[in-house]
Amino acid sequence: MQDAIERTEEYVKQNMKEYKDATHDWFHIERVWKTAKKIAQEEGADMFIVEMAALLHDIDDFKFNENGTTLKSKSWLESLGLDSDTIDKIVHIVENISFKGSAEENKIQTLEGKVVQDADRLDAIGAFGVACAFTYAGYKNIPIFNPAVEIRNNMSFDEYKKNEGSAINHFHEKLLLLKDRMNTKAGKFLAEDRHNFMETYLKQFFKEANGES
Ligand code: NI
Repeated sequence: MQDAIERTEEYVKQNMKEYKDATHDWFHIERVWKTAKKIAQEEGADMFIVEMAALLHDIDDFKFNENGTTLKSKSWLESLGLDSDTIDKIVHIVENISFKGSAEENKIQTLEGKVVQDADRLDAIGAFGVACAFTYAGYKNIPIFNPAVEIRNNMSFDEYKKNEGSAINHFHEKLLLLKDRMNTKAGKFLAEDRHNFMETYLKQFFKEANGES
């Protein structure tokens, strides 16, 4: 089992080099992996499934992989010779982990999936969340802030994918919603601090935007 984890770590490290987005680099995976282990311990989840899914969770991301297949993660798991039940459990997580817009239903059903999803969401909020929101906007050539763009709160997956807006819109359309969408008790607890930090950040941001600071 340990061998499978180590080999997967190496495989993912190599794979993430292809992504030209600093918000989805190996270090994001490493942070999610660490946080997922911590939550899994507190929640009593299956550690092997959690670690493998955390390592592979962005390999087939819909934002980078338009046809939405999970072939990469699945064929990797098959090459490790894992049993099909274990493979299915891991692939279920990889397939369903992404936030696909605030109006879309969450398809994650297993405790292990909930743990990894929480860990991934935690990395999207807090200080890293702020950094990633602007980095992603830069990558997509989206403005930092555009007062003329209205904030939408109930987006379908299609609207969410096509959404341009601004980095600040992204806080309202995704990041500030994540605290209440944590699946586990441990995840909710960790989200509090990070959420409060973003609120403080935005308060200051709008003070400056309005010439009040
Ligand atoms: Ni991720």
